[in-house]
Amino acid sequence: MDIAVLGAGAMGSVYGAHLATLAENKVTLIDIWPQHVEAINSQGLSINSPEGDQVYKNLTAVTSAQGLKAQDLVIVFVKATVTQEAMSQALNLVGPKTMVLTLQNGLGNIEKLCQVVEAKNVLGGINSYGSSIKGPGQVILRGRGETVFGEIDGPPSERLVNLKNLFDQAGLPASLTSNVQGRVWTKLISNIAINALCAIMGIKNGQLLNHPEAISLLEGAVSEAVAVGQAMSITFETDHPIQYAKKVIKNTAENVCSMLQDVRAKRPTEIAVINGAIVEAGLKHNIPTPINLVLTNLVKVIQQNYPA
Ligand code: PAF
Repeated sequence: MDIAVLGAGAMGSVYGAHLATLAENKVTLIDIWPQHVEAINSQGLSINSPEGDQVYKNLTAVTSAQGLKAQDLVIVFVKATVTQEAMSQALNLVGPKTMVLTLQNGLGNIEKLCQVVEAKNVLGGINSYGSSIKGPGQVILRGRGETVFGEIDGPPSERLVNLKNLFDQAGLPASLTSNVQGRVWTKLISNIAINALCAIMGIKNGQLLNHPEAISLLEGAVSEAVAVGQAMSITFETDHPIQYAKKVIKNTAENVCSMLQDVRAKRPTEIAVINGAIVEAGLKHNIPTPINLVLTNLVKVIQQNYPA
């Protein structure tokens, strides 16, 4: 299979490297960070995981999709704030049968992809791996989580069953869902509970549970998000969203969440598609979201004032 990963940060690199272990796959990582691309091409991609260190060499990396042919699979892993822009600059990757799969954080990625490629090409899903970039060509994989995907509406078709097999064989055990939006919202619950709070407080995920103040904020933020989701007829994949969020926090206790990584690297965060998206949807559906508004505004001010 010809596979392109659009956005080879930590997550994109991990998925690309695993898929490249299967001889039948030709994997191209696309990322705008030239040093990362150069390191992958010259030394391979090194992943440090709880299982040990491994270098993946069967990969090609490029800084732009320009000149590449249409792929069988495009996995979108850019920051959710640039999904539409990145995809529209890579339309040459998409042919009539290309599957364009988003496994990104946040709300709205499916809808943004459908603005620039045909909806029949788009697949949605989530991943809950914890990883970070150590340096060019070097990724730390802290924990393996789930990979879940499906058709954007309706039950998984044959192409999804084949894709699941491919991921399973590549060491990325996957499951299929007929409720992609419910999955995306359920994953969002964990990002609502963790990301902004850890980014503002400068703490690892697990430390949230050491502080009653943080627990009350995360419970409040999650409850608001659930109320908004329910007003939008979202079927969550859990009956106990707060317990679910706390379980993710425990499972990823040692993670520096992606938003805190962004703040530390002085990058724009995904606040607008996480807590910000809840505030926006809450306004449309008349659901008050004061905690998410405060979190959104605080992170916005932080990211507007990164020291030079
Ligand atoms: O964004 C992240 O860091 C991850 O999605 C999660 C699940 C919050 C774990 O750190």
